[in-house]
Amino acid sequence: MNNTLVVCGIQWGDEGKGKMTDYLAQAADVVVRYQGGNNAGHTITFGGNKYALQSIPSGIFNPHIKNVMANGMVVNPKAAIGELDKLRERGIRDFQLYISDRVAVIMPYHLALDGAYEALKGGKQIGTTKKGIGPAYSDKYSRVGIRMGDLLDKEYFAERLRDALLQKNMELKMLGLEQFDFDTLYNEYLGYGETLRPYITDTSILLNHEIEAGHKVLFEGAQGVMLCIDNGTYPFVTSSSPTAASVPLGAGIAPRFIDNVLGICKSYTTRVGAGPFPTELFTEQADYIRDRGHEYGTVTGRPRRVGFLDCVVLRHACRVSGVNYLSLMLFDVLSGVKDLRICVGYKLDGKVIDYIPSCLSALERCEPVYEVMETWEEDLTGMKTYEELPEAAKKYIRRVEELTHTEVAFVSVGPDRTQTIIRKEIF
Ligand code: GDP
Ligand code: IMO
Ligand code: MG
Repeated sequence: MNNTLVVCGIQWGDEGKGKMTDYLAQAADVVVRYQGGNNAGHTITFGGNKYALQSIPSGIFNPHIKNVMANGMVVNPKAAIGELDKLRERGIRDFQLYISDRVAVIMPYHLALDGAYEALKGGKQIGTTKKGIGPAYSDKYSRVGIRMGDLLDKEYFAERLRDALLQKNMELKMLGLEQFDFDTLYNEYLGYGETLRPYITDTSILLNHEIEAGHKVLFEGAQGVMLCIDNGTYPFVTSSSPTAASVPLGAGIAPRFIDNVLGICKSYTTRVGAGPFPTELFTEQADYIRDRGHEYGTVTGRPRRVGFLDCVVLRHACRVSGVNYLSLMLFDVLSGVKDLRICVGYKLDGKVIDYIPSCLSALERCEPVYEVMETWEEDLTGMKTYEELPEAAKKYIRRVEELTHTEVAFVSVGPDRTQTIIRKEIF
């Protein structure tokens, strides 16, 4: 059975998950976001149009696809309504959307606290997207969160908000920040609940029906494995797990329903925000790659940090996320890179290691061990088959497969849906 596929980023995010989800969605019945929120920025390009989605699943452009925002997400209802309005303005009106009644709601005090906690860190900021993600997940786990379904029940929502504000306003006061007025917040969020009411439902029931009926379901991860709260470069991570392990919990399905996991991987490495990045480049090579790959954040516009492909990262991510196929993205960007390299291991305190040390201070001491790769000059953006690729480019792909013990099923040579080379049909 190959009816379900997890699309998950295996570096530090922005690997091209939006592009691949949109591409694979052409064969899907359902597309599900299972974690994260509007800290994500997924770019989709087709038919001469470019879209950037933050919390809405990337199947939204296809009227026949059921798009699900599942319980593992954190959703800012105001921002989600804004995203839907923008899509409608651009002619995307005929869509199917289902929002889990168990989704954690991002409230305005989460945004205020996200900014305040960052400011308190002095020079040690994580560089969050300031969308309130960390504080919203914290409230979920400390059981003072508000869930999407709560907004539909006037009395229950009043009770939940009152309890939450008791804690949150105390915290805001201690931080010297403005407190939130119950009535204003209550009425505003009841309104968002009404606007979203047609979409809010029990998405676990829906997904289990879809899977049992043999329909094709894509799970669209946000962020990337190295930003995972458990397996990433903690504390420079997000507050959820983008791994495939997060899918059953975040979507309310059984683990046995996951057939395959596609690791979305840039052909080099980027990172936005702070934290260790062993293969980071500060040379002209970085500027060359940043320019060719337009490496500026979708959400924040920040220039992304750029470096060579790190196979220690890929092996770690493939292991913890059960990745059994890779999609090598932005491969076209590598044409003409001088002195192209792949990191095959790290040197830590004089010893070569092949894993990611858990302790940040050790990871910061790691120096990449490189293998020099043959380069190529050809423009790959118009190539449709693996056979057309220059020999040096094929060697690069095969070396990635050897180093990760994972098959490269897709090679992406441009942002458009059509610029995708298929090596193996997996969905
Ligand atoms: P996501 O967060 O993983 O969905 O990735 P982003 O959308 O944030 O960033 C990926 C960027 O690369 C977007 O601007 C895409 O349009 C672009 N992109 C995706 N695949 C390719 C590719 O194969 N080649 C090039 N040149 N750009 C690509
Ligand atoms: P997509 O889905 C890249 C990073 C932030 C910061 C850290 C924590 O587009 O790949 P948060 O706001 O989540 O508390 O920030 O995680 N980050 C991302 N980096 N792509 C993303 O999403 C990201 N979402 C969060 O820059 O370093
Ligand atoms: Mg992105």
